[in-house]
Formats: sequence, structure tokens, C-alpha cells
Amino acid sequence: MELHTRPVTGLSGRVSVPGDKSITHRALLLGGIGDGTSRIDGFLDSGDCRATIGCLQALGIRIERPASSTLQVHGKGLRGLAPAQEALDCIRSGTTMRLMAGLLAGQTFDSVLTANQQLLARPMDRVIGPLRSMGACISGGEGDRFPPLAITGSPLRGAVCVLPMASAQVKSAILLAGLYAEGPTTVQEPGPSRDHTERMLTARGVPVHSEGLVHTLRGPAPRLSALDVRVPGDFSSAAFPIVAALLVPHSDIVVENVGINPTRTGLLDSLLAMGADITLEECRQEGGEPVADLRVRSSDLQGVSIGGDLVPRTIDEFPILALAATQASGHTRVRDAAELRVKETDRIATTVTTLRTLGAKIEPAPDGFDIMGPTPLKGAELHSFADHRLGMTIAVAGLIAVGGTVLTDAERIADSYPGFEATMARLAGGARA
Ligand code: S3P
Repeated sequence: MELHTRPVTGLSGRVSVPGDKSITHRALLLGGIGDGTSRIDGFLDSGDCRATIGCLQALGIRIERPASSTLQVHGKGLRGLAPAQEALDCIRSGTTMRLMAGLLAGQTFDSVLTANQQLLARPMDRVIGPLRSMGACISGGEGDRFPPLAITGSPLRGAVCVLPMASAQVKSAILLAGLYAEGPTTVQEPGPSRDHTERMLTARGVPVHSEGLVHTLRGPAPRLSALDVRVPGDFSSAAFPIVAALLVPHSDIVVENVGINPTRTGLLDSLLAMGADITLEECRQEGGEPVADLRVRSSDLQGVSIGGDLVPRTIDEFPILALAATQASGHTRVRDAAELRVKETDRIATTVTTLRTLGAKIEPAPDGFDIMGPTPLKGAELHSFADHRLGMTIAVAGLIAVGGTVLTDAERIADSYPGFEATMARLAGGARA
């Protein structure tokens, strides 16, 4: 599917973005092992979340959709999952595979987790190692490095897992396994990854004690309560209209109801440091997560240096941040971001290739990139390497690039942001965005 974009004269209006992907995955999983029915309002209806729904259904969990943006998950309790008849297909969703691995390790039955070509190439040793240290019987392909994962349900014991990388997926897999483990399970991470699992487990009656970067859960959990969740808009999706409004002259937009959990908003901090005109309005708490409306106006940006703890808080936003940096004056330097190499694509390589084709001055580094700006961009025909966030970055670039820009594999955008094209078109005042 092709998406054509061309420069527009300004973006305006109020829009909302779809529900948070990470929170939707977790609300589904914890709903499935909760006691009774959990309602999820504003869930993300995307390819990745459908993978989690499919896996839970295959494990015997009934999930209903009483309204277009609401799901009801009929939880069967911590020990109520049933063995799946065949391999559980995580499709393209790394979050589904890694969290499921943790959840299934301590069951009394065996499971296999499989995936499509793209996910089959993503590292799984990062979950296999810590889960084995808890007594899990789990193996992967190619020397335990990749999917598919074969799991023999086993009794688990708590362990101290010191992670070499800041990864919420790995942290969450370990905590989910910890629900079934004898004794305390501790995860120590090197930087602050998203904390939705800790918040949601605690809200469901299984406290996760966090002291800085060390998180402990005491297992085995006797039960997990059902919980109704209102899912805030996904900051990682809001990132695209936000950067679009900063870059397109004469823009003034509001993105409503966006989750602003501090473990997710590194992009906001970087953009503000770059001189972006972004204000947070109506800051509030919803369903255990901070939420705000974000007002964004066109801005002259300056280059910025990004590294350290800011990186895990920005981890999904580097392609669109890089686009913003091509329009900022001076040098933008990103380091400590080697994790970008193992996302849906090697996002250092694919971001560099994409932005260079559009005329940007960008150099890769082993763990980041350097950008010199501002550089006028020129439109091109591009594909996203089947990476939704690259695809949306290309579409936003098309709003400022001279001439037309064509994204040839726009269907992947729906992996995280169904409705992206329509929202951008609305902001552009009906012009096809
Ligand atoms: C996610 C964690 C991050 C992020 C991904 C979603 C999650 O991955 O990139 O899009 O929901 O836990 P890592 O854990 O690999 O950093």
C-alpha cells in the first residue's frame, strides 16, 4: 500500500492518538491471568496487540469486544491457562513473545512461541538466560539466540537477574515468571525502562517494590485481581504529529489524552532542550498513569546531545527524533543507543539510509548517529523496511520535503498506529497528508 505525502502550509486542530501499545499488551496478559473479568477501554487495535489477543485465546482465555474501543478479558486466574493446541504465533510482536515467554515458563504445560520472518531474526537469548536462572526449561533456535521458543512448563524459583541492557520486555518477562516462582525475584536494570508492568501488577494486588533501578516481586503470588484499565494515548504514536507540528511552519495543534509516564517521554525532554514550543495542558492521572494534552507549535530547533538514561526513555522515538534533528541548527549527537540495532529493523542503519535518501547529513556510529542541520529535504520514493516507525517518519518527512514523497509499504504503519494517515490529513486541514 502506497502513502503519498507532500508539503503542507500548516497543521492545526485537536486530535487524539490510539491507545498505548505497551499498556494494551500488559492489560490483556494480566487480564487473562486475573481473577474474573477485566475491562480494557481505549485499547490499541493494532497488528501487534492482535498477536497477544490470539495467543491468549489459544490458551483458553475468552476475550469479547462489547464496544469498538473496549475489550473484556475473562481471566481464569494465575493457574487457569490451558495448553495451546499448536504453536502460539507472536507474528511481528517482540513484546508478545518476550512477555509470553515469562508467563509460560512457570505453567504446568508446554508451549511453543513462533513468529513471522522479521521477529524470527530478533534476539531471544536476553529472556532465555534470566528465565533459565529461575529454573525455566526454555530453548530457542540457532544456539538459543532466536525464536521459535520451546518452553517446558517447570517449577520456578526466584532469582536476582542483573540485566546488561535496559529492556522493559525482558524486565517484564522476568517479573511475570516471578509470579509463579518460589521466593523473591529481583530485576536490576542499567537504565530506566518503561514501568507499566510494575504499576499494573501492584494495582492488581501483587506489589513490585522498586528502589531506583532494582525491582522485586515476592512469589508465588496467591492471586491477581481483575482490574478495569483505561488506556491512555500512546506517547510513541503522538511523537509523529508532535514532530510534524514542530517542523511544518505555521502549525499549532493539540494532541489530547497522551500518556506522559516519565519512563516514556525522553523525546519530550530532548525536544524541549532543542527549543520546541510544547506545553502540557490538563495534566491528570488516569488508570494509574499520568496523562496530559500536548499543545505543539512550529519551532526553530537547535541540535542536542543524547545519551545515558535518556536513551531507554526515548527508545522507540529515535527515527522521528532524527528527522527533527535534520531541521535543527547544528550538531545532534546520539550515543549509548546500540539497542536500536535489534528493533523491528536495525534502526541506526535504516534511519541513516532513509534520511540520507531524503538529503539529510547523517553519519552512523556503532551506538547512535550524528546529524548536522538544518538541511532542506527533497522528496523521494522510499520503503520502510517493514518498520512501522520508519514508515511514519518517512510520511512526516514528506510534509516538509520538496516535491512528493511516496512510502511504498504503508500497510506496516497499522502495527502500532491504525488511523495515522487520517489523523495527519485532519491536521493538514483535509489536504491529503
Ligand atoms: C516495549 C519495550 C521496548 C520497546 C517496545 C515495547 C514494551 O522494547 O522498544 O516497542 O512494551 O515493553 P525493549 O524492551 O526491547 O527495549
